[in-house]
Amino acid sequence: MADLLVFAGGLELKNPMLAASGCFGYGLEADPVIPPSLFGGIVTKTITPAPRRGNPVPRLAETHAGMLNSIGLENVGLDAFLADKLPALEDVDSKIVVSVSAGSAGEFAEMAERLAEHARVDALELNLSCPNVAEHGRNFAADPAAVAAIGKAVRRVFARPMWIKLSPNVTDISEVARAAQDAGADAVTAINTLLGMDINIDSGKSPFARVTAGLSGPAILPVALAAVWRIAREGGIPTIGVGGASSAKGLLKFLAAGAEAVQLGTVLFSDPGAPQRILDDLATHLDAQGHTNLNSLREQWKEQA
Ligand SMILES: Cc1cc2nc3c(=O)[nH]c(=O)nc-3n(C[C@H](O)[C@H](O)[C@H](O)COP(=O)(O)O)c2cc1C
Repeated sequence: MADLLVFAGGLELKNPMLAASGCFGYGLEADPVIPPSLFGGIVTKTITPAPRRGNPVPRLAETHAGMLNSIGLENVGLDAFLADKLPALEDVDSKIVVSVSAGSAGEFAEMAERLAEHARVDALELNLSCPNVAEHGRNFAADPAAVAAIGKAVRRVFARPMWIKLSPNVTDISEVARAAQDAGADAVTAINTLLGMDINIDSGKSPFARVTAGLSGPAILPVALAAVWRIAREGGIPTIGVGGASSAKGLLKFLAAGAEAVQLGTVLFSDPGAPQRILDDLATHLDAQGHTNLNSLREQWKEQA
């Protein structure tokens, strides 16, 4: 059987498949339906300095090839995460990437400093791109200067791998990726959800209290692939791909576009059998092509380029 080990964003992952933030709780909620140790890494639900109740319901709507969500960063907050959620992950055989969000560079750094005290935190993912949070007033990931300031503040206090998650809701995602690189990030994660909305034709209004929502799922795979490719072709900063992957084929497309690893989001809700199937299909694909590992496949892609 081919070896699926990869080095991604400063981490050694036993396979290139991670659970995306917000789609796998704090790591244990789906166990045993989806065993957490299947993943090379788990990105936990974004936490903020204080607990958040999130947006009013409804928070989800199906679309033709995906889903709209307006969760509004509901989370238990940093203290409860450190007291209850992180210790429960001690025996999980997966890298733990903790996703954080805050209202300022200083707050991000304070969170990072406290998380750095815990050995189980293998890496941080800075969520600068959530479009749902009204009081932050803006999307940090749309502003390269804000990305640089937050990244540098966290870099000063956190020596382990730091990933910065980018938003597709910008004109030039590679400009934001360069700001992340300048701040010393080990990787960028691309992409968060696309800005979208639904309309109820009886009321003529959006069903969501905050009107717009984030689009995810198979519909956004082509957008995510293009984002990863645009960042990767500059060769500056490693990329972790996310957006619409639901099969080994999708995962391979991200790797070919230049991603070092790939996160699964919406598919974890719609198809809990997908992670195991993806690992099996990846190994079968490599074996059938005569590759003993993923690097060998990457080399073949390079030779053909
Ligand atoms: C219900 C839901 C909740 C999410 N919550 C978060 C979150 O807390 N933090 C974050 O960075 N991304 C969050 N995301 C975005 C995903 O991590 C991912 O970037 C996006 O859904 C695209 O990937 P997918 O198409 O595979 O789902 C959420 C997505 C969904 C569907």
